[in-house]
Amino acid sequence: MTETPGGHRKTAADRAAHAAGHAGDATGHTGDATGHAAVRATDVTRRHGSGESQVLALDGVSISVEAGRFTMIMGPSGSGKSTLMHVLAGLDAPDEGHVFLGRREITGMSDKALTRLRRTHTGFVFQSFNLIPTLTVRQNIGLPAQLAGEKLDADWVRTVTARLGIAALLDRKPHELSGGQQQRVAVARALVTRPAVVFADEPTGNLDSASGAEVMNLLAAAVREFGQTVIMVTHDPGLAVFADRVIMLADGRPAADLTAPSPEAVADALLRLTPRTGEQALPFCGQEALAR
Ligand SMILES: Nc1ncnc2c1ncn2[C@@H]1O[C@H](COP(=O)(O)OP(=O)(O)O)[C@@H](O)[C@H]1O
Ligand SMILES: [Mg+2]
Repeated sequence: MTETPGGHRKTAADRAAHAAGHAGDATGHTGDATGHAAVRATDVTRRHGSGESQVLALDGVSISVEAGRFTMIMGPSGSGKSTLMHVLAGLDAPDEGHVFLGRREITGMSDKALTRLRRTHTGFVFQSFNLIPTLTVRQNIGLPAQLAGEKLDADWVRTVTARLGIAALLDRKPHELSGGQQQRVAVARALVTRPAVVFADEPTGNLDSASGAEVMNLLAAAVREFGQTVIMVTHDPGLAVFADRVIMLADGRPAADLTAPSPEAVADALLRLTPRTGEQALPFCGQEALAR
């Protein structure tokens, strides 16, 4: 949480309400973070490349993600998951359609306004980490707050870095870390400002099971304890135990939408999806995940 001058602690619910464009009722109470859409897309199309090699990554996607919930995006490799995350977070613009963060439409927003909204209301864990190589771990984690002109809650930074097992690495540079350590730094960077919406693109992809469990526990705590909205891409049906909802993508379109599904139901839905390239729908550890 962020200390504001009046000593009022800004909660994720406040931020979610702010992002949603309402400042709360007359009592100043912002109410529950759940119940409205944290992020919404209507008829979103996104193409990559040009000419013969052009790929339709998102094919008229309309989805609404409820605030204060843990939503997972799953689907075969190449189904458009990363593209959807980037478009929903305002990091990439759709070719057609509209995207809303809270009640504010971000499509067509000026770069400056969008950058500001992103910095204050969203956190993003990139599939490729995107740490700044010349900065230390501590500086990387502090960067979003610094750019937004906000002061980090030092206790919360200590808690997050300790729980992710990176507290001893704060003065290292990214190249001195393993892939799994870099991934945990990227998770810490997205969580320390307590953004209303956290986007995480395969945040457990490079982690051993103990580190993966800590990342999942922190993301779940963001939702259950702090009222944040988490949207996460994963290939692992076993992680469905953390999800309020699982949206399956196939060929750039939502193909299934499951509410609080079991890992078995998720694995089943994934197997039903037919990838257009003929590659495996389950490129990973389905059995292992189900055995947990
Ligand atoms: N920058 C890009 N240039 C060209 N094609 C891209 C680019 N990014 C993604 N694609 C293509 O768009 C499709 C969707 O990609 P992506 O969103 O990364 O899928 P996923 O995350 O589900 O694996 C894939 O066919 C991929 O090859
Ligand atoms: Mg991806």
